[in-house]
Amino acid sequence: MTSTAVTPQSIQHAAELLHQGKLVAIPTETVYGLGADASNPDAVVKIFKAKGRPSDHPLIVHLAYASQMKDWAEPVPDVALKLAREFWPGPLTLILNKKAWVPMAVTGGQNTVALRVPDNPVALWLLRVFGGGIAAPSANRFGRISPTLAAHVAEELGDAVDCILDGGPCTVGLESTIIDLTDSQPTILRPGRITRSQLEEVLQMPVTLKSQHKIRAPGMLASHYAPNTPAFLCAAEALPTLLEQRQNQGQQVGVLTFSTKLSDLSCRHLLRLPDQAEAYEPALYSALRELDQLQLDSILVEQPPDSEEWMAVNDRLGKATL
Ligand code: TXA
Ligand code: MG
Repeated sequence: MTSTAVTPQSIQHAAELLHQGKLVAIPTETVYGLGADASNPDAVVKIFKAKGRPSDHPLIVHLAYASQMKDWAEPVPDVALKLAREFWPGPLTLILNKKAWVPMAVTGGQNTVALRVPDNPVALWLLRVFGGGIAAPSANRFGRISPTLAAHVAEELGDAVDCILDGGPCTVGLESTIIDLTDSQPTILRPGRITRSQLEEVLQMPVTLKSQHKIRAPGMLASHYAPNTPAFLCAAEALPTLLEQRQNQGQQVGVLTFSTKLSDLSCRHLLRLPDQAEAYEPALYSALRELDQLQLDSILVEQPPDSEEWMAVNDRLGKATL
Protein backbone atom coordinates (compact mmCIF):
# COMPACT_ATOMS: atom_id res chain seq x y z
CA MET A 1 0.00 0.00 0.00
CA THR A 2 1.46 3.33 -1.05
CA SER A 3 0.32 6.54 0.56
CA THR A 4 -2.41 8.79 -0.83
CA ALA A 5 -2.19 12.56 -1.23
CA VAL A 6 -4.75 14.51 0.78
CA THR A 7 -7.59 15.89 -1.38
CA PRO A 8 -11.31 16.34 -0.72
CA GLN A 9 -11.80 13.09 -2.69
CA SER A 10 -9.27 11.07 -0.73
CA ILE A 11 -10.70 12.30 2.58
CA GLN A 12 -14.19 11.31 1.42
CA HIS A 13 -12.88 7.93 0.31
CA ALA A 14 -11.05 7.39 3.62
CA ALA A 15 -14.25 8.22 5.54
CA GLU A 16 -16.17 5.69 3.43
CA LEU A 17 -13.54 3.02 4.09
CA LEU A 18 -13.91 3.67 7.83
CA HIS A 19 -17.72 3.36 7.56
CA GLN A 20 -17.17 0.02 5.76
CA GLY A 21 -15.10 -1.25 8.68
CA LYS A 22 -11.74 -0.87 6.95
CA LEU A 23 -8.41 0.47 8.21
CA VAL A 24 -7.05 3.92 7.37
CA ALA A 25 -3.64 5.22 8.48
CA ILE A 26 -3.88 8.87 9.52
CA PRO A 27 -1.32 11.55 10.25
CA THR A 28 -1.51 13.23 13.66
CA GLU A 29 0.82 15.80 15.19
CA THR A 30 2.38 13.08 17.39
CA VAL A 31 2.78 9.96 15.24
CA TYR A 32 0.79 8.27 12.45
CA GLY A 33 -2.17 6.27 13.73
CA LEU A 34 -3.77 3.10 12.38
CA GLY A 35 -7.44 4.03 12.44
CA ALA A 36 -10.74 2.17 12.48
CA ASP A 37 -14.33 3.09 13.31
CA ALA A 38 -14.25 3.01 17.13
CA SER A 39 -17.94 2.08 17.30
CA ASN A 40 -17.41 -1.05 15.18
CA PRO A 41 -15.80 -3.94 17.15
CA ASP A 42 -15.13 -5.98 13.98
CA ALA A 43 -13.20 -3.08 12.49
CA VAL A 44 -11.26 -2.53 15.72
CA VAL A 45 -10.22 -6.20 15.81
CA LYS A 46 -8.51 -5.67 12.44
CA ILE A 47 -6.20 -3.11 14.06
CA PHE A 48 -4.87 -5.69 16.50
CA LYS A 49 -4.36 -8.18 13.65
CA ALA A 50 -2.55 -5.68 11.44
CA LYS A 51 -0.24 -4.59 14.25
CA GLY A 52 0.31 -8.04 15.72
CA ARG A 53 -0.76 -6.50 19.01
CA PRO A 54 -2.34 -8.41 21.94
CA SER A 55 -6.06 -7.59 22.11
CA ASP A 56 -6.00 -6.57 25.78
CA HIS A 57 -4.09 -3.40 24.91
CA PRO A 58 -6.53 -0.48 24.92
CA LEU A 59 -6.67 2.02 22.04
CA ILE A 60 -7.05 5.80 21.95
CA VAL A 61 -10.31 7.12 20.46
CA HIS A 62 -9.69 10.24 18.36
CA LEU A 63 -12.44 12.87 18.15
CA ALA A 64 -12.98 16.02 16.09
CA TYR A 65 -14.37 18.09 18.97
CA ALA A 66 -14.06 18.17 22.75
CA SER A 67 -17.86 18.34 22.89
CA GLN A 68 -17.92 14.68 21.74
CA MET A 69 -16.33 13.57 25.04
CA LYS A 70 -19.77 13.12 26.55
CA ASP A 71 -20.71 10.58 23.86
CA TRP A 72 -17.88 8.29 25.00
CA ALA A 73 -17.29 9.04 28.68
CA GLU A 74 -19.45 9.31 31.77
CA PRO A 75 -19.03 11.29 33.89
CA VAL A 76 -17.00 13.99 32.16
CA PRO A 77 -15.38 15.60 35.21
CA ASP A 78 -14.44 19.27 35.45
CA VAL A 79 -10.77 18.39 35.29
CA ALA A 80 -11.34 16.82 31.85
CA LEU A 81 -13.17 19.91 30.59
CA LYS A 82 -10.40 22.17 31.86
CA LEU A 83 -7.65 20.13 30.20
CA ALA A 84 -9.57 19.79 26.95
CA ARG A 85 -10.19 23.53 26.84
CA GLU A 86 -6.52 24.27 27.36
CA PHE A 87 -4.76 21.55 25.37
CA TRP A 88 -7.12 20.26 22.63
CA PRO A 89 -6.58 19.95 19.79
CA GLY A 90 -3.22 18.68 21.00
CA PRO A 91 -0.93 15.89 22.20
CA LEU A 92 -2.86 15.01 25.36
CA THR A 93 -4.93 11.85 25.93
CA LEU A 94 -7.50 11.74 28.73
CA ILE A 95 -8.49 8.47 30.42
CA LEU A 96 -12.10 8.62 31.62
CA ASN A 97 -14.78 6.12 32.62
CA LYS A 98 -16.40 4.83 29.45
CA LYS A 99 -20.05 4.92 28.58
CA ALA A 100 -21.70 1.50 28.66
CA TRP A 101 -22.05 1.22 24.87
CA VAL A 102 -18.35 1.78 24.10
CA PRO A 103 -17.02 -1.53 22.74
CA MET A 104 -14.68 -3.50 25.00
CA ALA A 105 -12.61 -4.21 21.89
CA VAL A 106 -11.53 -0.54 21.98
CA THR A 107 -10.83 -0.38 25.70
CA GLY A 108 -8.99 -3.69 25.96
CA GLY A 109 -11.74 -5.03 28.22
CA GLN A 110 -11.56 -2.13 30.67
CA ASN A 111 -14.25 0.23 31.89
CA THR A 112 -12.19 3.25 30.96
CA VAL A 113 -11.66 4.92 27.59
CA ALA A 114 -8.79 7.02 26.21
CA LEU A 115 -9.85 10.18 24.30
CA ARG A 116 -7.91 12.74 22.29
CA VAL A 117 -8.55 15.53 19.76
CA PRO A 118 -5.41 15.57 17.59
CA ASP A 119 -3.87 18.80 16.35
CA ASN A 120 -3.40 17.91 12.71
CA PRO A 121 -5.46 19.42 9.89
CA VAL A 122 -5.74 16.14 7.94
CA ALA A 123 -6.80 14.14 11.00
CA LEU A 124 -9.36 16.79 11.96
CA TRP A 125 -10.70 17.01 8.42
CA LEU A 126 -11.18 13.24 8.25
CA LEU A 127 -12.72 13.14 11.74
CA ARG A 128 -15.25 15.83 10.78
CA VAL A 129 -16.21 14.13 7.53
CA PHE A 130 -16.37 10.70 9.19
CA GLY A 131 -18.43 12.06 12.07
CA GLY A 132 -17.59 9.47 14.74
CA GLY A 133 -14.61 8.43 16.83
CA ILE A 134 -11.55 6.86 15.22
CA ALA A 135 -9.74 4.27 17.34
CA ALA A 136 -6.07 4.42 16.51
CA PRO A 137 -2.85 3.14 18.02
CA SER A 138 0.45 4.17 16.50
CA ALA A 139 0.67 2.67 12.99
CA ASN A 140 3.66 0.43 13.59
CA ARG A 141 3.98 -3.30 14.14
CA PHE A 142 3.75 -4.19 17.82
CA GLY A 143 6.88 -3.28 19.77
CA ARG A 144 8.47 -1.28 16.96
CA ILE A 145 9.29 2.39 16.50
CA SER A 146 6.26 4.63 15.90
CA PRO A 147 5.95 6.09 12.37
CA THR A 148 6.39 9.83 11.87
CA LEU A 149 6.14 9.74 8.06
CA ALA A 150 3.61 8.10 5.71
CA ALA A 151 6.50 6.11 4.21
CA HIS A 152 7.21 4.56 7.63
CA VAL A 153 3.62 3.29 7.77
CA ALA A 154 3.92 1.75 4.31
CA GLU A 155 7.16 0.04 5.38
CA GLU A 156 5.65 -1.31 8.58
CA LEU A 157 2.15 -2.33 7.61
CA GLY A 158 2.13 -2.69 3.83
CA ASP A 159 -1.13 -4.16 2.57
CA ALA A 160 -2.57 -4.70 6.04
CA VAL A 161 -3.99 -1.16 5.76
CA ASP A 162 -6.57 -0.06 3.17
CA CYS A 163 -5.43 3.56 2.81
CA ILE A 164 -2.53 5.67 4.10
CA LEU A 165 -3.23 9.41 4.11
CA ASP A 166 0.01 11.32 3.60
CA GLY A 167 0.01 14.35 5.89
CA GLY A 168 3.76 14.91 5.76
CA PRO A 169 6.07 14.65 8.77
CA CYS A 170 4.57 14.68 12.27
CA THR A 171 5.41 17.95 13.98
CA VAL A 172 5.56 16.72 17.59
CA GLY A 173 6.99 13.30 16.76
CA LEU A 174 6.47 11.54 20.12
CA GLU A 175 3.25 9.94 21.34
CA SER A 176 0.80 12.02 23.39
CA THR A 177 0.96 12.57 27.13
CA ILE A 178 -1.61 10.25 28.77
CA ILE A 179 -3.34 11.39 31.96
CA ASP A 180 -5.70 9.21 33.96
CA LEU A 181 -8.62 11.24 35.35
CA THR A 182 -10.69 8.34 36.72
CA ASP A 183 -9.35 8.81 40.25
CA SER A 184 -9.46 11.89 42.49
CA GLN A 185 -5.70 12.09 41.94
CA PRO A 186 -4.80 12.80 38.28
CA THR A 187 -1.94 10.56 37.18
CA ILE A 188 0.34 10.71 34.15
CA LEU A 189 0.58 7.24 32.59
CA ARG A 190 2.87 8.25 29.73
CA PRO A 191 4.95 11.43 29.50
CA GLY A 192 4.77 13.48 26.30
CA ARG A 193 5.10 17.03 24.99
CA ILE A 194 2.54 18.35 27.51
CA THR A 195 4.47 18.29 30.79
CA ARG A 196 3.43 17.62 34.35
CA SER A 197 4.03 21.29 35.27
CA GLN A 198 1.74 22.44 32.47
CA LEU A 199 -0.99 20.04 33.65
CA GLU A 200 -0.59 21.09 37.28
CA GLU A 201 -0.77 24.73 36.33
CA VAL A 202 -4.08 24.31 34.53
CA LEU A 203 -5.60 21.99 37.13
CA GLN A 204 -4.22 23.92 40.10
CA MET A 205 -3.54 20.60 41.85
CA PRO A 206 -0.72 18.06 42.08
CA VAL A 207 -0.46 15.49 39.30
CA THR A 208 1.33 12.23 40.06
CA LEU A 209 3.57 10.39 37.68
CA LYS A 210 3.24 6.68 37.32
CA SER A 211 6.30 5.08 35.82
CA GLN A 212 4.60 1.68 35.56
CA HIS A 213 0.88 1.40 35.15
CA LYS A 214 -1.09 -1.65 36.05
CA ILE A 215 -2.67 -2.00 32.64
CA ARG A 216 -0.47 -3.97 30.32
CA ALA A 217 0.48 -1.19 27.99
CA PRO A 218 3.02 -0.95 25.19
CA GLY A 219 4.85 1.63 27.25
CA MET A 220 5.72 -0.89 29.92
CA LEU A 221 7.21 -3.60 27.76
CA ALA A 222 10.98 -3.48 27.66
CA SER A 223 11.09 -4.03 23.90
CA HIS A 224 8.77 -1.17 23.09
CA TYR A 225 9.71 1.57 20.63
CA ALA A 226 12.81 -0.50 19.90
CA PRO A 227 15.01 -0.72 16.82
CA ASN A 228 16.21 -4.20 15.78
CA THR A 229 19.83 -3.13 16.21
CA PRO A 230 20.96 -3.27 19.85
CA ALA A 231 21.01 0.33 21.08
CA PHE A 232 22.71 1.65 24.20
CA LEU A 233 22.30 4.91 26.10
CA CYS A 234 25.56 6.50 27.18
CA ALA A 235 26.72 9.73 28.75
CA ALA A 236 28.43 12.15 26.36
CA GLU A 237 31.65 11.81 28.36
CA ALA A 238 31.75 8.01 27.97
CA LEU A 239 30.63 7.85 24.35
CA PRO A 240 33.97 8.43 22.53
CA THR A 241 35.69 5.61 24.47
CA LEU A 242 32.79 3.20 24.02
CA LEU A 243 32.75 3.97 20.31
CA GLU A 244 36.47 3.38 19.95
CA GLN A 245 36.33 0.09 21.87
CA ARG A 246 33.56 -1.24 19.66
CA GLN A 247 35.20 -0.06 16.48
CA ASN A 248 38.47 -1.72 17.57
CA GLN A 249 36.52 -4.96 17.88
CA GLY A 250 35.57 -4.57 14.24
CA GLN A 251 31.97 -3.49 14.96
CA GLN A 252 29.97 -1.20 12.70
CA VAL A 253 28.58 1.37 15.11
CA GLY A 254 25.96 4.09 14.69
CA VAL A 255 25.86 7.17 16.91
CA LEU A 256 22.95 9.44 17.74
CA THR A 257 24.03 12.68 19.41
CA PHE A 258 22.80 16.18 20.01
CA SER A 259 25.23 18.00 22.23
CA THR A 260 28.11 20.21 21.21
CA LYS A 261 30.27 18.14 23.58
CA LEU A 262 30.55 15.59 20.81
CA SER A 263 30.87 17.97 17.89
CA ASP A 264 34.30 16.67 16.86
CA LEU A 265 33.43 12.98 17.17
CA SER A 266 34.18 11.13 13.97
CA CYS A 267 32.10 8.15 12.96
CA ARG A 268 30.73 7.11 9.57
CA HIS A 269 27.23 6.58 10.85
CA LEU A 270 26.67 9.59 13.05
CA LEU A 271 23.38 11.47 13.20
CA ARG A 272 23.27 14.75 15.03
CA LEU A 273 19.89 15.94 16.29
CA PRO A 274 18.95 19.41 17.59
CA ASP A 275 19.96 20.15 21.18
CA GLN A 276 16.55 21.50 22.20
CA ALA A 277 13.99 18.87 23.26
CA GLU A 278 11.16 20.37 21.15
CA ALA A 279 13.28 20.13 18.02
CA TYR A 280 14.89 16.79 18.95
CA GLU A 281 11.52 15.04 19.45
CA PRO A 282 10.19 15.22 15.87
CA ALA A 283 13.53 13.95 14.54
CA LEU A 284 14.10 11.07 16.96
CA TYR A 285 12.07 8.19 15.50
CA SER A 286 13.16 8.88 11.91
CA ALA A 287 16.78 8.93 13.05
CA LEU A 288 16.43 5.62 14.91
CA ARG A 289 14.82 4.06 11.83
CA GLU A 290 17.56 5.39 9.59
CA LEU A 291 20.32 3.95 11.77
CA ASP A 292 18.39 0.71 12.22
CA GLN A 293 18.20 0.21 8.45
CA LEU A 294 21.99 0.28 8.11
CA GLN A 295 22.12 -3.12 9.85
CA LEU A 296 24.92 -2.01 12.14
CA ASP A 297 26.21 -4.05 15.08
CA SER A 298 25.09 -1.46 17.59
CA ILE A 299 23.85 2.09 18.07
CA LEU A 300 25.20 4.40 20.79
CA VAL A 301 22.70 7.03 21.87
CA GLU A 302 23.83 10.09 23.79
CA GLN A 303 21.93 10.41 27.06
CA PRO A 304 19.86 13.62 27.25
CA PRO A 305 19.71 15.74 30.43
CA ASP A 306 17.52 14.57 33.29
CA SER A 307 15.15 17.56 33.15
CA GLU A 308 11.38 17.86 32.73
CA GLU A 309 11.53 19.06 29.14
CA TRP A 310 13.49 15.92 28.18
CA MET A 311 11.26 13.56 30.18
CA ALA A 312 9.31 12.17 27.21
CA VAL A 313 12.51 11.64 25.20
CA ASN A 314 14.17 9.91 28.15
CA ASP A 315 11.12 7.68 28.59
CA ARG A 316 11.19 6.56 24.93
CA LEU A 317 14.97 6.18 24.79
CA GLY A 318 14.84 4.10 27.96
CA LYS A 319 12.53 1.70 26.14
CA ALA A 320 14.41 1.75 22.83
CA THR A 321 17.76 0.88 24.39
CA LEU A 322 19.11 -2.13 26.27
O1 TXA B 1 0.03 10.24 20.26
C1 TXA B 1 -0.62 9.22 20.42
O2 TXA B 1 -1.16 8.95 21.50
C2 TXA B 1 -0.73 8.25 19.25
C3 TXA B 1 -1.56 8.93 18.15
C4 TXA B 1 -1.87 8.01 17.00
O3 TXA B 1 -2.72 9.47 18.71
N1 TXA B 1 -1.31 7.02 19.64
C5 TXA B 1 -0.67 6.10 20.39
O4 TXA B 1 -1.40 4.94 20.58
O5 TXA B 1 0.44 6.26 20.87
P1 TXA B 1 -0.81 3.61 21.21
O6 TXA B 1 -1.89 2.60 21.10
O7 TXA B 1 0.48 3.27 20.56
O8 TXA B 1 -0.66 3.95 22.69
C6 TXA B 1 -1.85 4.20 23.42
C7 TXA B 1 -1.57 4.14 24.88
C8 TXA B 1 -1.19 2.75 25.33
O9 TXA B 1 -0.09 2.85 26.22
C9 TXA B 1 -2.44 2.30 26.05
O10 TXA B 1 -2.18 1.37 27.05
C10 TXA B 1 -2.96 3.60 26.62
O11 TXA B 1 -2.76 4.49 25.57
N2 TXA B 1 -4.39 3.50 26.91
C11 TXA B 1 -5.40 3.49 26.03
N3 TXA B 1 -6.58 3.33 26.67
C12 TXA B 1 -6.29 3.26 27.97
C13 TXA B 1 -7.07 3.09 29.14
N4 TXA B 1 -8.38 2.96 29.09
N5 TXA B 1 -6.43 3.04 30.32
C14 TXA B 1 -5.10 3.18 30.37
N6 TXA B 1 -4.30 3.32 29.32
C15 TXA B 1 -4.88 3.36 28.13
MG1 MG C 1 2.31 2.61 20.03
